[in-house]
Amino acid sequence: MTTSPSPTFEIDEHSIGWIIFDDPERSVNVLTESVMRRLAEATNEALRACQEARVRAVVIRGKDDSFIAGADINLIGTTEDPEVAKESIELGQEIFSGISSLPVPTIAAVHGACVGGGVELSLACDHRVLSSSDSTTMSLPEVQLGILPAWGGTTRLTRLIGLRAALDMLLSGRKVSPPKAKSIGLASEVIPAAIFHTSVQEFAQSILSKKRGPRARKRPGLGQLLDATPLGRSIVLRMARKKVAKRLGGQYPAPTAILEVLTRTVGKSVAEGLSAEATNAAILLVSPVCKNLVHVFHLRQMSKKGTGIPTDSAAGPRAISKIGVLGAGVMGGGIAQLAASRGVVTWMKDIEHGAVTRGLQHARSLIRGKVTRHRMTNSEARQAMDRISGGVAYHGLSGSDIVVEAIVEKIELKKAALSELEEYLSDDCVIATNTSSLSVKEIATALKQPQRFCGMHFFNPVHRMPLVEVIRAPETSDAAIVTTYQLALKLGKVPVVVSDGPGFLVNRILGPYMNEAGFLLSDGASIKMIDGSAKRFGMPMGPLRLLDEVGIDVSTHAGSSLYQALGERLKPAPALVDLGNTGRLGKKGGRGFYLYEESRERQIDDTIYVELPSVPAPDSNRPSSISGEEGQGQILRRLVLAMINEAARTLEEGIVISAAEVDLAMIMGTGFPPFRGGLLRFADTIHPRGIVDRLEMLAEKHGPRFTPAPALTRLASEDLTFYSAFPPSGS
Ligand SMILES: NC(=O)c1ccc[n+]([C@@H]2O[C@H](COP(=O)([O-])OP(=O)(O)OC[C@H]3O[C@@H](n4cnc5c(N)ncnc54)[C@H](O)[C@@H]3O)[C@@H](O)[C@H]2O)c1
Repeated sequence: MTTSPSPTFEIDEHSIGWIIFDDPERSVNVLTESVMRRLAEATNEALRACQEARVRAVVIRGKDDSFIAGADINLIGTTEDPEVAKESIELGQEIFSGISSLPVPTIAAVHGACVGGGVELSLACDHRVLSSSDSTTMSLPEVQLGILPAWGGTTRLTRLIGLRAALDMLLSGRKVSPPKAKSIGLASEVIPAAIFHTSVQEFAQSILSKKRGPRARKRPGLGQLLDATPLGRSIVLRMARKKVAKRLGGQYPAPTAILEVLTRTVGKSVAEGLSAEATNAAILLVSPVCKNLVHVFHLRQMSKKGTGIPTDSAAGPRAISKIGVLGAGVMGGGIAQLAASRGVVTWMKDIEHGAVTRGLQHARSLIRGKVTRHRMTNSEARQAMDRISGGVAYHGLSGSDIVVEAIVEKIELKKAALSELEEYLSDDCVIATNTSSLSVKEIATALKQPQRFCGMHFFNPVHRMPLVEVIRAPETSDAAIVTTYQLALKLGKVPVVVSDGPGFLVNRILGPYMNEAGFLLSDGASIKMIDGSAKRFGMPMGPLRLLDEVGIDVSTHAGSSLYQALGERLKPAPALVDLGNTGRLGKKGGRGFYLYEESRERQIDDTIYVELPSVPAPDSNRPSSISGEEGQGQILRRLVLAMINEAARTLEEGIVISAAEVDLAMIMGTGFPPFRGGLLRFADTIHPRGIVDRLEMLAEKHGPRFTPAPALTRLASEDLTFYSAFPPSGS
């Protein structure tokens, strides 16, 4: 294997040695095997120069716009043998230890993103000097990939900034800004970006006259007791373990392993810490959970790099400086807030002044929330609000590069509003509808230029839900798709292009899943068991709790639309028909399957059993066959296979092209457990043949709604998995 030319080592006229990461082959520096080998050489060159008194300090720096983006993810995804994994981790530790034992002061000069292994390398230095640029962040996202920082990160971070602050970074993977890094003791200094490089040199010279090493951060009072005494640390670790168990339910081994390493080694030597890191990380690295999380990482990258249009298309995105939003309700207000927060001028039009005012208030309260959570400064919040305005006249929308329509879900109203709107727009302005259930093709008939029109389906709440379905109707142009796709990326969302069809992608797959929960109720499964089984599988909430969340009126309407469009297999379960007649609204009305107080779930509302004639009460004398462990298995089989079967149909109908898109959309749109890698990756672990067998058994017992989709039967007979039969386009 060739050795990378990066990093280089050079000595300047002030006897400062510079280890410079600037990989000519990549836009960001990655710690690949060959880069690590070169780092070991550069460190040896630095050591020799120190021993020969040619160098008095060593500075490590990155490219002009970024530091180091972490280790090579492909390596994590492909390592299968724990022994090999351990050896390679130990080699990395040894290389970083070479930096930490250089006999002169060492400084990591961090400008731009510093991620994972980049942070660990900086932790091996005596000082971390950060530029004040907005692009400068420090993060250890290993936990999100199912591993732990094992090149000394877990050990050195905790010793540097204290147990509580370290746990916050290690268990969340969150990015830390320069001011925060300074306040927690991670950064020795934050320097204005404009003078960063010259000031780093001055910093290096200034520390030569001082004693080596940063000053230990004083954590006064209780903080000192918690971080620096064995009793305090054991309290902190116990609380963290409880929190992790509650939040993740034991499905993600990495946070537990981080806590295990720290429990065993905090307060002990660095060598003991490193050894525990290597042992634990090697086990994690080869686990299926890690492989699945790495797979999800690749899915996200695929969406970020994608364009939404075929590779042979020449269409480019329209630059967006102004967005129009038609309809200032729940969704319109949310979209306007998001766009303005991301620097885009936004104009909202509604038919009522009051709605515009409420839309602006909604946006303002979301922006204020960001300030409260330190995600935005006061001045950024003011600037964002200054970008949003609105009114009842159409002319405010003229000059828009794209208009997102988010008015009430009535096709005639949408068509009338869009045909009026078109008069005020330039010919190349894109129009996108946020409809959740109507036909984009049908709405497009109202427009003179249907080719500029597509769907842009945000999920509620807009600021929180990452998925945006970009919906292509038959006449939609590539230019409209690519512009909408790029806008979704600009708004920080994960776009997936889908073809027009009932429920588009995610709601369609959820349809049979939620309906099956209704059948299960009638078959005697309790609310607690149904939702509990789905949660144990890893869903963020069970299907009945989800019905409450979406709103019982909305889901009843969506269910009957799917039934009308897709036929008998989507016929609403009797329990859900009964539910629609109860007048309960779900969370927004305070009552559904659960009771809510001020929008907080309180408890299951047992009175619902009485109100649903098709559902036996849990204490009825009729013994339920759905109970205990076996019952949970039955529930899961029915819920998950219903989704897989529908997903197969969306692929055979070309709603999406690839299994990867189904998986990305389900993870981002429904919270399908990332540790399973996605719905169809999970299905591939059973193999379509196993799925078809199980579906046929269910069809025999519960009816033809479980009849295997033709695509599944084909995969089973041709011995293909979803991922091999439906690869991403271009692969
Ligand atoms: N709320 C959700 O959970 C959700 C999720 C995804 C998509 N959607 C879709 O988003 C759209 C809007 O939903 P919402 O929940 O924000 O509705 P909403 O009732 O909160 O807001 C709709 C707004 O549109 C305004 N309006 C009605 N006719 C208009 C017209 N001709 N011109 C301008 N404004 C007009 C109303 O005054 C109201 O302010 C719908 O298509 C809905 O299906 C909603």
